Amino acid sequence: MVTTIGPHMSSNASLRVPRRRVAVIGATGVAGQQFITALQNHPWFEIAAVAASTRSAGRSYGEALRDSGSGAMRWYCDEAPSPAVLALPVENAAAIDPESADIFFAAVESDAAREIEPRLAAHRPVFSTASAFRGETDVPIAVPGVNLDHLALIDVQRRRRGWKGFVVPLPNCTTMGLVVTLRPLADAFGLRRVIMTSMQGLSGAGRSPGVAALDVLDNIIPFIAGEEEKVAWETGKILGQVAGDTIAHHPVVVSATCTRANVREGHTETVTVELEQSVDLAAVRDAMVAFGGELCGRGLPSAPEHLIEIHDDPYRPQPRLDREAGGGMTTSVGRLRLDAVGLRYVLVSHNTKMGAAKGAVLVAETMAADGVL
Ligand SMILES: NC(=O)c1ccc[n+]([C@@H]2O[C@H](COP(=O)([O-])OP(=O)(O)OC[C@H]3O[C@@H](n4cnc5c(N)ncnc54)[C@H](OP(=O)(O)O)[C@@H]3O)[C@@H](O)[C@H]2O)c1
Repeated sequence: MVTTIGPHMSSNASLRVPRRRVAVIGATGVAGQQFITALQNHPWFEIAAVAASTRSAGRSYGEALRDSGSGAMRWYCDEAPSPAVLALPVENAAAIDPESADIFFAAVESDAAREIEPRLAAHRPVFSTASAFRGETDVPIAVPGVNLDHLALIDVQRRRRGWKGFVVPLPNCTTMGLVVTLRPLADAFGLRRVIMTSMQGLSGAGRSPGVAALDVLDNIIPFIAGEEEKVAWETGKILGQVAGDTIAHHPVVVSATCTRANVREGHTETVTVELEQSVDLAAVRDAMVAFGGELCGRGLPSAPEHLIEIHDDPYRPQPRLDREAGGGMTTSVGRLRLDAVGLRYVLVSHNTKMGAAKGAVLVAETMAADGVL
């Protein structure tokens, strides 16, 4: 039986979209909880099912959120889960029936995603936060406002794999803020090289295994395995162009240093960009401020008013003050300046909202509003 939550009306000021049943896979994790938060009062989507590992399956969602040893509630988001969601039974993600929802939002580690996502994608759309399929030539890495024309690859996926549904992953959460800010620069001035150093929030490491408090308190961890390679490679793909049945990567050279900082949430990145043209700051500012207007003006439930917000105060952006900008969907930019090396700025991006769950929900909303979901 499918349990549905929320009213069965589906409208918003300017858009009417058929209401859909959705399932969250990996619902007990950090990104999964952000999916619950983004979806539990959604005007178009209603949570019909939740799933996680066999450790959680068979219990109610509320019980599964409790630590098996201490019994402590491991709910992580600022917004509370609704009683109706807490009462939902947690299903085994490996065995969940594709018929149990119209759309699947998946937030599991890559190894599990490799097994779970194709089984569901054979029948249903799957929006994923995992890296498992990002490297496949027929899989777009979707970023709202940046490259949704890449969703044209969905037809290629269906044709090649015989799927009725599809897998659309989002990028690594550290790539997200970077590509949102690079896209307007690439379009207006051309990109040559990018040097980025991140100070990433703890939630980016998830719960299992997560980052031990004793290691990170009063500390900065100077290495995150695999992260720098992902940022460099994904940036080229996301900023690239559809070319036949695949994506031709943008030739930009990206050098990343990724560190873990003692911040609960929000990824801060210092960025230096060598552009193809010489620019003045006013033109850079204009390009960034205007960016994303079309997406943001569509009346999509999870879209912010602006994709990029620019701060003049040299002490901004800060993760604590700016991660929730635009409901966690706006990338905050500050310290915008030119020096002998290139254009320089600092950004803050919400890693579990725009960088994971709510960003994936926004991609689904754009497809629903376009009538292609
Ligand atoms: N955290 C972020 O900021 C962020 C941002 C972007 C992308 N991502 C990606 O999102 C995914 C989830 O990350 P997270 O931070 O939410 O991790 P997490 O907090 O560790 O949560 C992992 C989730 O996956 C479930 N799970 C683990 N093994 C499973 C299995 N074999 N089969 C089915 N479900 C399984 C867990 O269920 P149990 O509770 O039952 O163990 C839990 O619900 C990862 O691929 C990560 O790279 C995370």
